Amino acid sequence: MRTQVAIIGGGPSGLTLSQLLNKAGIATVVLERKSRDYVLSRIRAGILEWGAVELFRTAGAGARMDREGIVHDGTCLASDGRLFRVDFHAACGKQVMVYGQTEITRDLYDAQDAIGASVITEADNVELHDVTGDKPFVTYSKDGVTHRIDCDYIAGCDGFHGVSRPTIPASVRREFEKVYPFGWLGLLSRTPPVHEELIYARTERGFALASMRNPLLSRYYVQVPLTDTVEAWSDEAFWDEFRRRMPEAIADSLVTGPSIEKSIAPLRSFVSEPLRWGRLFLCGDAGHIVPPTGAKGLNLAASDVHYLFEALKAHYERKDDEGLDRYSEKALARIWQAMRFSWSVTMMMHRFPGQSDYETRMQVTDLAQLEQSETARKLFAENYTGLPY
Ligand code: APR
Ligand code: PHB
Repeated sequence: MRTQVAIIGGGPSGLTLSQLLNKAGIATVVLERKSRDYVLSRIRAGILEWGAVELFRTAGAGARMDREGIVHDGTCLASDGRLFRVDFHAACGKQVMVYGQTEITRDLYDAQDAIGASVITEADNVELHDVTGDKPFVTYSKDGVTHRIDCDYIAGCDGFHGVSRPTIPASVRREFEKVYPFGWLGLLSRTPPVHEELIYARTERGFALASMRNPLLSRYYVQVPLTDTVEAWSDEAFWDEFRRRMPEAIADSLVTGPSIEKSIAPLRSFVSEPLRWGRLFLCGDAGHIVPPTGAKGLNLAASDVHYLFEALKAHYERKDDEGLDRYSEKALARIWQAMRFSWSVTMMMHRFPGQSDYETRMQVTDLAQLEQSETARKLFAENYTGLPY
């Protein structure tokens, strides 16, 4: 088989890129290791920067998002039970949209079906070949048969555990990593959200976040030690702990219910440089991971895809390779900004093992500055709603 761009990974990065390229008349094949049902069962974050909203619209996958997504003009933060709000619209004129990543991925699969794009799921043993030559190709097996796809370029959109990044020799790669000594225990429940906006809460007991998917579906988190297991957390224990970390008035109005999903996610910051090697380009989680604190994971995937799509389009339409040559540098500049933001919010909001009183005062003072300084709110709002592409 031959295509123009072989895309490894059928998560949001790979599907969005495939959708945009197909709409621009550029042929793709997406290879996804798991089944579609499996991909659509993964629960991920749910905040879209406006740039991502516009990218999904351009990709022809925005109709349900525009019907069902909830626009938020601000977010709430709490420090030791004191609640305050950052008004994004007042601070920087921008907004975000609450719409689950799982829903976006479903919409992208539907959009790919509608245009007849080639998405091969349950593709095993994907391998990338001759990536630094002129004629790269990809092999995979399906139902015990090995197949080969010849292509011009390969987009590595296969997440943190994929094969694309390790294809780049270790001697070429430079990796930057910070692993945080805690995780987030998340619970999804069919209950009305406790507040109309998100609440990020810092307490002596640790961090908690009140989020949502829609008016009847809530997503809540509490910071837990990495040694905790989901089994050790009954729903009741979760609700008790969550209540203790929310400001009193919020805790009093919390509606609880049985969990639909409960999982623990570790927190990590990771960047691999460069994002290009020969004809291979890394996008999304394949190249970088952010802790969920700033909700940047999917949004960074969207900006990577935007840069790569524009670069491939310029190559095919005008034989202009500047975008491809500058992809890594451009994407990384924005990635590091989001790394810094999610790291700083993570540091400000969590209880670290062995944290000193001095460090606690620094967190409290950071939050006080955010509450009191228009300049600090503007910076936070610009970063949260998304820096320009
Ligand atoms: N071969 C084919 N597909 C693979 C392989 C492989 N060897 N390894 C992984 N994949 C698939 C995974 O099954 C997954 O569906 O690649 C896909 C990668 O999807 P994501 O992990 O969702 O990554 P990405 O599309 O970059 O989306 C970024 O997802 O993880 C969140 O926080 C992250 O919100 C961000 C977004
Ligand atoms: C979520 O809704 O899952 C969510 C929202 C905001 C975050 C992280 C996760 O910062």
